[in-house]
This record gives sequence, structure tokens and C-alpha cells, in this order.
Amino acid sequence: MANIELSTQPYKGTRDFYPREMTLRNWFFGKIRERLQLCCFEEYGGPMLESLDIYIAKSGEELAGEQTYNFEDRGGRRLAVRPEMTPTVARMVAGKLGELSFPLRWFSIPNLYRYERPQRGRLREHWQVNVDIFGADGFEADTEVISTAVSLLDALGAKKDMYRVHINNRRFFNDVICSLCGTDAEGAKKISKVIDRKGKVGREAYEKDMIALGVSADMIAKLDSVYSMSVTEAAALCPDSQGAAELLGLFSMLDKLGLSEVCEFDFGIIRGLDYYTGTVFEVFDTSPENNRAMFGGGRYDNLVGLFVKNAHVSGVGFGFGDVTLENFLVTHNLIPDDLYTGRAKVLVTRFDGIDYETYADLAAKIREAGVACTVYNGQQRKIGKELDYAGKAGFTHAVTMGTDEKAAGIVKVKNLSRREEKTVAVPDLADPKVFD
Ligand code: HAM
Repeated sequence: MANIELSTQPYKGTRDFYPREMTLRNWFFGKIRERLQLCCFEEYGGPMLESLDIYIAKSGEELAGEQTYNFEDRGGRRLAVRPEMTPTVARMVAGKLGELSFPLRWFSIPNLYRYERPQRGRLREHWQVNVDIFGADGFEADTEVISTAVSLLDALGAKKDMYRVHINNRRFFNDVICSLCGTDAEGAKKISKVIDRKGKVGREAYEKDMIALGVSADMIAKLDSVYSMSVTEAAALCPDSQGAAELLGLFSMLDKLGLSEVCEFDFGIIRGLDYYTGTVFEVFDTSPENNRAMFGGGRYDNLVGLFVKNAHVSGVGFGFGDVTLENFLVTHNLIPDDLYTGRAKVLVTRFDGIDYETYADLAAKIREAGVACTVYNGQQRKIGKELDYAGKAGFTHAVTMGTDEKAAGIVKVKNLSRREEKTVAVPDLADPKVFD
């Protein structure tokens, strides 16, 4: 091993977060946390490793079979590194069913792993804001989840023309397939998988797969026409469908809340995950270079029941990833100009012949003012070199005190960007205005 030079690159599809990247991530997750708490959502967390079975049960073949990192532990248990949070939160809710008060409003910001081909908007590790309401069956909760998604974008400074919420309903979708393709629920499930892959495989392969499932060219054409229908026109295709009634109810409520401007019915939204049963939605950036969904979510009626038989606690929520969010913020110029420089950060420089403790006391006084400060602890003792370091390391101010200043009870405060210097009495360092 001694002569081997290992790669400095992170594992494919993962990212290092150097302090600058971390500043950005903390900024947007800070805004999101603040807004979610304002909407009375409580934060929870869970483990990185879960039994593989919880994904096999309901997440669907693509996620559980192809995209999950899994292994057997030394005790022979089949484990997965979490590819999503929803099964974990359903397990946690099921674990304390008797103690929790419903409706439950929870959020979490876990990192997730999926074995995907890294590309713009999709990586192998991402952080995902998960927002869910458990135990609220009416479509008011679906509306609230969608309006919360919109509210998060608003908290980040997004304008209404920068994104669109695309909405469909799984029950309605299945009913339309059954009705237009003359099939049963099992057949509709197979057809919906083919439709879900439509964008990825191209038109020719799509038609071939549909015909293999017994869907005629005429039926395909009828299905095609649904994509351009309004929600009212589409609902009229299956007037007795519970899903159609849910869709109409949801759209009417969104209208009353002034959200219809950013929402549209989209028959193409199916969602790859098997557990969704009702409303499904995705949020897209309107900018063409960011074509991957930013949010995905919907209603799932029986996930908690996987863990506690006969329990009926419905859930509705969404996941919102940091990769697409960052592309969105950069494209629409929403990252504040002063994000990396906004707060004062002070370096107390040192001269030979003055004790370290004297400088440490100055730093403590400056911190009393709530201003970030530290004492230089490198090997240089030349003021020019120390100031050079301060500038490169992102300090906004430098405080210097030589023997004469010490005797006079004063320091010099340099504003590094404005290249201005002022003299300040030591007791006045506790005033944050000194570092404006
Ligand atoms: P999902 O659609 O798989 O849903 O993911 C939600 C969001 O996470 C996506 O819209 C995207 O922003 C982000 N995302 C997903 N995979 C990747 C990836 N490989 N790289 C970067 N970002 C990604 C779920 O995971 C559901 N469990 C969400 C949910 C919560 N449904 C109800 N509650």
C-alpha cells in the first residue's frame, strides 16, 4: 500500500461538500426547515440502513430491484441503503400507532442512494426533503401538500412562472386504462408500466410493448388524445370513477386557493413507485435545460398496513431533491449575491512578544458581540502574510494589536474588502457595529 496514490475523487454520482458548497446547502435547507416549521410540520429522522424487504414490498421493481444498493450483513440479513424515505416513515408511524396523534405532520431531510446513471438532475446520492401528512383522508390534505410544495419554492424566492405542478390520479388513470383498453386492474398495471417508460424508450418501442399487451393501435390513439384534455374533459371519460371525482375535487380546491395558475392536469404523471393509490404529482422547472422532476409525491393509502395488519392510516406527501433544486436556483438566479460573504468573520492577527492569551481575550470579546472570530494560529508572524491568509480564507476583517496598541488599550480593525482601517478601544469590540 505504501506507494499507492489513491484517487481524490468521490465515488461516482456522489459529491464532496467543501465549505462553499455546504454554505449553499445549509442556506436552502435552512429556508425550507423554517417554512415547514411555520406550516406546523415536525422534523424526524431514521436510519440509513433498512431491511430490503420494505422496498421490495411496495416501492416497485425499478427502485427496489435495479436501483437499490443492497447487501447481506454478517448475520445473514438482507439490507438496503435507503433509496427513499417513505417506507421508513411508514414503518416509524406503524411502530407507534397507539401513541401518535393524527393527522400527523412530519418532515425529514435524509440523504438517499440510488444506483442510477449520473446525469443532469440525477445522481447516486442526493438529499431529499420529505414532507408527509398521515391520517388525513380528504383531498384537503392533498391540496395542502401541493400548496406546501409551492410554499417551499416561494420561500426560496421562486416566481410563479418558474415552475409548474403536474397532477394526475392513480385510481383515475387505472380506470381510464381499463375503460379505453378493455382490460382489468392487473392488465392496467402492466400497461401503466409501459406508459411510465414511454419517455425513456421512444415511440416505436412504446407502441410495440403496448401491442404485445393486447392494446390495439386504435386504443393507443384514444389514449394519446387524453394527454391534451382538460381535467373536466378527461373526467368525463369515466364519470363513475372515484379517481375522477377526487381529481375534480382537488382542482376545484386548488382553484379556490388561487393555486390553479401554477397547476395543470397531466395524464402523463404516473409515478414509478407502486404504493401511490390516489393523487400523484410532480413539479417541473419551466426552464428547458432542467427537464427532470424537482418534486414527486402523492397519496398512498395502505403503506402503514404493511407493518401493522388491519391498520388503516393513509399518507400523502412528497420528496424534493437537492440536485434539481440547485439547478433551479442557479438557472433562475435565486442564490443571494452575499451568501458567501454576508456575515462578518474576524481574524485576530498576532505579533511576536505578545501572549497568545491576550489575543484569545480579544477574540472572546468580539464573539460576545455575536460576531464570528478566531485568533490566527499558523506559523507566519509577518502582518502582511497574516493579512494575505485572512483575505484568502474568507475573513472580512482583521484585528491587529502590537505592543504600542496594547499599552494604549486599543486595536486596529481592518475591513479587508473596503481596505479601510479604524482604531477601536478594546471594550468597544463587544459592539457588533464595529464590524459593519
Ligand atoms: P421520487 O419521485 O423518487 O419520490 O423522488 C422525489 C424527488 O427526489 C425527485 O423529484 C427528485 O427531485 C429527487 N430525486 C430522486 N431521485 C434522484 C436522484 N437519483 N438524484 C437526484 N435527485 C433525485 C420519492 O422518493 C417518494 N418517496 C417521495 C414521497 C414522499 N412520496 C410521498 N412522500
